[in-house]
Amino acid sequence: MKAMICESYGSPDVVQPRELPRPEPGRGEVLVKVMAAGITTGDWRLRASAFPGGLWLPGRLMTGLFRPRKPVLGGDFSGVVEAVGEGVTRFRPGERVFGFSMFGAHAEYLTMSAEGSIAPIPGGLTFQEAASLPFGTNCAIEFLRDVAAVQPGQKVLIVGASGGVGGYAVQIAKWLGAHVTGVASGDNLDYLRDLGADAVVDYRVTDIATLSERFDLIFDTVGAISFSTAKGLLAERGLFLPLNFGIGDVPRALLSGFGGGKRMKLHVNGDSRALAETVADLVLAGDLRPLIDRVYPFDNIRDGYAHVEGRHRRGAVVLDIAGEEDSAAFAV
Ligand SMILES: NC(=O)c1ccc[n+]([C@@H]2O[C@H](COP(=O)([O-])OP(=O)(O)OC[C@H]3O[C@@H](n4cnc5c(N)ncnc54)[C@H](OP(=O)(O)O)[C@@H]3O)[C@@H](O)[C@H]2O)c1
Repeated sequence: MKAMICESYGSPDVVQPRELPRPEPGRGEVLVKVMAAGITTGDWRLRASAFPGGLWLPGRLMTGLFRPRKPVLGGDFSGVVEAVGEGVTRFRPGERVFGFSMFGAHAEYLTMSAEGSIAPIPGGLTFQEAASLPFGTNCAIEFLRDVAAVQPGQKVLIVGASGGVGGYAVQIAKWLGAHVTGVASGDNLDYLRDLGADAVVDYRVTDIATLSERFDLIFDTVGAISFSTAKGLLAERGLFLPLNFGIGDVPRALLSGFGGGKRMKLHVNGDSRALAETVADLVLAGDLRPLIDRVYPFDNIRDGYAHVEGRHRRGAVVLDIAGEEDSAAFAV
């Protein structure tokens, strides 16, 4: 099978096409013929070893000290179940599925646990639409619903609201009943209103620190504001959730909130079968729609990476792996 592999850390140029043996599903695993995959900021950080704020060493210990331990990147995927391993009853060959595999999706086939982050593609989503969902939605659901426990009527400020996580965070915060203020720039403000944001702020025009409104939650997907700036914008007992943080933020987060103060929490989200099924349910209920910025042919993966690293994508960047007609209507 054809795969895109990274044998060293570096720029998009380290990504090379390679013929690899097709994997076989082991016990409890599914073999998926990948039709589309995402290119995310997560893939970029793994490929370039671009871990923020002093986290380089822990990052390298996780992914391989001198070279990537798992050379085929790609977490977001959609495709068709090709075969199932012994003991798998949850899926049958031919089923259309989507999910998050962490590694291995930038290839024509991948294997993963049948009990992992994989679910049937909801409704009439195309493969490309389905592949646009997992990274941003897993993150938004886990941070907003599980970590922040956002309640109806709470005021939520989302910084980087038009990005790969942000566009889904706006939708998830609205689903949870929040009043959402989205921060982005230029034409993206109309995009945020279309996603359901109640108010918008152009960070190129208005310094976020000068906003007069007070928020119960600030979800910063960019690393644009510090905890001290966030404190000035938070209501009493308000919570600051930065997606990007460094080692120096650990003591600040641990000490925050003592004596009833404003809080900062650090978290790294995971993925699961339950999250994939929640995403599918939200799409079917009409509470969540896929957001695709651009689609790149498999062979143009490096251009896709360059676009993601520009940090101005509007929703997800998708890799068309199967190169087949993918025109099933989005009928939800
Ligand atoms: N902790 C975790 O578990 C976790 C999970 C997932 C992701 N992450 C990290 O979270 C980050 C966000 O990921 P993402 O995929 O959403 O990123 P992304 O798609 O690159 O985000 C782009 C967004 O950032 C905005 N933006 C760019 N420059 C800005 C600036 N100077 N000030 C304010 N906004 C700005 C863009 O708005 P305009 O285009 O309008 O400028 C757009 O809304 C990544 O660094 C990723 O590594 C962490």
